[in-house]
Amino acid sequence: LVGIQITPSILNADFADLGAEVARIGSADMVHVDVMDNHFVPNLTFGPTMVEALARSTDLPLDAHLMIADADRHAVTYVEAGCASVTFHVEAAAAPVRLAREIRAHGARASMALKPATPIEPYEDLLGELDMLLLMTVEPGFGGQKFLDLVLPKIRRARAMMGKHGVETWLQVDGGVSLETIERCAEAGADVFVAGSAVYSAEDPDRMVAELRAAAEA
Ligand code: DX5
Ligand code: ZN
Repeated sequence: LVGIQITPSILNADFADLGAEVARIGSADMVHVDVMDNHFVPNLTFGPTMVEALARSTDLPLDAHLMIADADRHAVTYVEAGCASVTFHVEAAAAPVRLAREIRAHGARASMALKPATPIEPYEDLLGELDMLLLMTVEPGFGGQKFLDLVLPKIRRARAMMGKHGVETWLQVDGGVSLETIERCAEAGADVFVAGSAVYSAEDPDRMVAELRAAAEA
């Protein structure tokens, strides 16, 4: 078992200096890169060219979170750009099983994300196809939003399903994760934690990574 992982999101970092920003979180387990297309979400970030440059600039594995329409068509591009893990939204995927298998076949970890109002129950039998499940704890699109406590029961149910099926799928939470909320997520069964504004608004981002890890492990 890998245990607790902290995966800072660079969404609220300085986009003009991303290489240096990633160098400030050396103790992170992965770097969470939020790809947005102004279509699936009302915000726009960057695409595969930028992600590829970032992959070359760091030894940390990249964890791509694709908030883009037509995920089936674009996800593998991010594996080819050098991401170790690629997360697509189930709401944007026509064939999630095929897509997860395709991501794995290209050599990355396959992960599927659910927005806060998307139920987990219809996907119970898919868990074995996934290396990670991402449960959004805000509506995707922006950093700095308030953590949605209403997702906590879904985290618990997902963790219980994983136990029942004996799968080793990582369970990631993303949105509003901070020293205030991380313990609740860990207690509910999450083991991979995205934190954007909490890390990059801290004076010492790497120290915040350590503090978040300690809080989640407590
Ligand atoms: C939101 C993104 C998140 C975001 C998290 O749509 O998926 O990864 O960067 O930012 P915080 O931690 O500030 O909520
Ligand atoms: Zn994200």
